[in-house]
Amino acid sequence: MRRPILAANWKMHKTAAEAEEFAEKFLPLVEGARAEVVIAPPFTALERLSRALEGSAVALAAQNVNPAPLGAFTGEIAPGMLAELGCRYAIVGHSERRALYGESSAFVARKAAALLEVGIRPIVCVGETLAEHEAGRALDVVREQLTASLAEVPEGRGEEVVIAYEPVWAIGTGKTATPQAAQEAHTWIRKMLASRFGETGAKIRIQYGGSVKPDNVDALRAQPDIDGALVGGASLDPESFARLVRSEATGDSA
Ligand code: PGA
Repeated sequence: MRRPILAANWKMHKTAAEAEEFAEKFLPLVEGARAEVVIAPPFTALERLSRALEGSAVALAAQNVNPAPLGAFTGEIAPGMLAELGCRYAIVGHSERRALYGESSAFVARKAAALLEVGIRPIVCVGETLAEHEAGRALDVVREQLTASLAEVPEGRGEEVVIAYEPVWAIGTGKTATPQAAQEAHTWIRKMLASRFGETGAKIRIQYGGSVKPDNVDALRAQPDIDGALVGGASLDPESFARLVRSEATGDSA
């Protein structure tokens, strides 16, 4: 049984003080939730949020990482620095980083492996662009990204990885894949994971991402291979994100 995982990707939103305020309002709303809950604030809010989340079941995540353990990489953050702040997850390969900062799947693979080395679980994002989608290339693109991005995950560590399938055309656009189309994509991904990790493939959680909101979350989460969501816009408000965490498919009441 895969435990659902709902992750907030705040992107470049919220100061440290705002993150703390969010936690005060949000934590009472998700107490006892069955789903695993993760928040990825900007780096500058990690420490304050880490303190604010102490004693709760909500996990802290980073939005990015550099794979090197230390060195002359101006502006970058190493895996060990994130582990020290209490990060249990880190997002890697988000489409914004791939598109805006030219990150390749090979680089994403190094990040995922470096995170696992310090005990942080990578949330590996994959997804096709609108042009690729319209050209009928979604499956090929996702296969390529997934294969290359997971290339350095050591044997026996597959279960620690979370996959986020985020069709790029659905991110921040208000457009979502239909629950059926999302399920179909997740089924392909599940098959790819089985060929990469064998039986462990069935245990790896696959989140859906791209304009997940209170009014579409239940239908998405009702799909058998959708194990939660990676959420941008709708995670910035405590009530909205709590509603996603407590979506019907978890068995929790809203
Ligand atoms: P969105 O972002 O929910 O605002 O579409 C999702 C993401 O980029 O992870």
